[in-house]
Amino acid sequence: MTDPAPAAVIAGVGAWVPPRVVTNDDLAARMDTSDEWIRTRTGIRSRHFAEPGTATSDLAVEAGRRALASADVHVDTVVVATITPDQQLPHTAPLVAERLGLGGAAAFDVSAACSGFVYGLAVCAGLIAAGTSRAVLFIGADTFSTTLNPDDRTSAVIFGDGAGAVVLRAGNAAEPGALGTFDLGSDGGQWELATIRGGGSRQRLAAAPFDPADEYFAMEGKAMFKQAALRMADSARIVAKHAGWRIEDVDRIVSHQANLRIVEQVAYELGVPAAHCLSNIDSVGNTVAASIPLAMADAVAKGDLRPGHRVLVLAFGGGLTWGGTAVRWPSLRLADPTLPNTRSANP
Ligand code: COA
Repeated sequence: MTDPAPAAVIAGVGAWVPPRVVTNDDLAARMDTSDEWIRTRTGIRSRHFAEPGTATSDLAVEAGRRALASADVHVDTVVVATITPDQQLPHTAPLVAERLGLGGAAAFDVSAACSGFVYGLAVCAGLIAAGTSRAVLFIGADTFSTTLNPDDRTSAVIFGDGAGAVVLRAGNAAEPGALGTFDLGSDGGQWELATIRGGGSRQRLAAAPFDPADEYFAMEGKAMFKQAALRMADSARIVAKHAGWRIEDVDRIVSHQANLRIVEQVAYELGVPAAHCLSNIDSVGNTVAASIPLAMADAVAKGDLRPGHRVLVLAFGGGLTWGGTAVRWPSLRLADPTLPNTRSANP
């Protein structure tokens, strides 16, 4: 009998947010909104914005450094999920690998918007299963504040910047931390629900005439809300079934955090207590590809995510795209506390 393909096992976690905190009142001082509206409609109280000059790779390096210190595993591959790369070329991962002393490692980016972390996990698991990689540093990082339209109060209040990372190593499917089967899906027919239209090959930045609004992110919030809850609940049922778990056996759900009400709606649709859903959206907002690992790192630090927990990991984003996987949480130590920051990994 041939040996089964290696499974991808979570061996470390880390996170980083840029130091600048932007409160709801800060936003209300420059656009027509209020702390009360943002808190009650989204669950967000504050978020972190990168200063001009700080790029996605800067955040990714910090999160990656912490995940590597947490795992203490030699990594041969670096993957970054982002839709806000430092520039069009080169992509982000080779820069991150070089700065972390991992020059020579395989390095590339994954682009799947707010689903980037789950899509990227699936890609990394595939690399490990195929024997191409023995251990992967996988980082979700976005500086989405750079895409926000200051005239669009609906989207401008929900996003923040950040990075979160995991180290995945080759192991076996029965051990704690092994990623289960993935459910991945898309619906390109609804691509117009979340867009940044300008700057790609269809609508080139250098071409005239150019609507300045097309430089920015735009979203149909209500439709995205409904799709997010529906798709993540469906993925949850599928991956729980593959794992052999009943929904009531699930201890924790860590889902993409676009809005606290979506997190709660997914819990409601699944019949899971809302308290089982991990969330730190109140202090970081929607951090796109970073949102899931940021919530994981925070929950590990607070003791909300513990060894043995049966965890569903769920994402939804523009594209439309969605996905999920299941993991029995492993025993992890957090990054070396002598590393400066992070509120997320070392509160
Ligand atoms: N401050 C104050 N009022 C606001 C506001 C803000 N920041 N944003 C919108 N409003 C107003 C609207 O103008 C509208 O006013 P009206 O009733 O007088 O027309 C009212 O609040 C309701 O707006 P609506 O867009 O229906 O709000 P909502 O409850 O749907 O919340 C979102 C908006 C964006 C927070 C919510 O739809 C959402 O989170 N969507 C999902 C986003 C998502 O999943 N993204 C995935 C990643 S891309």
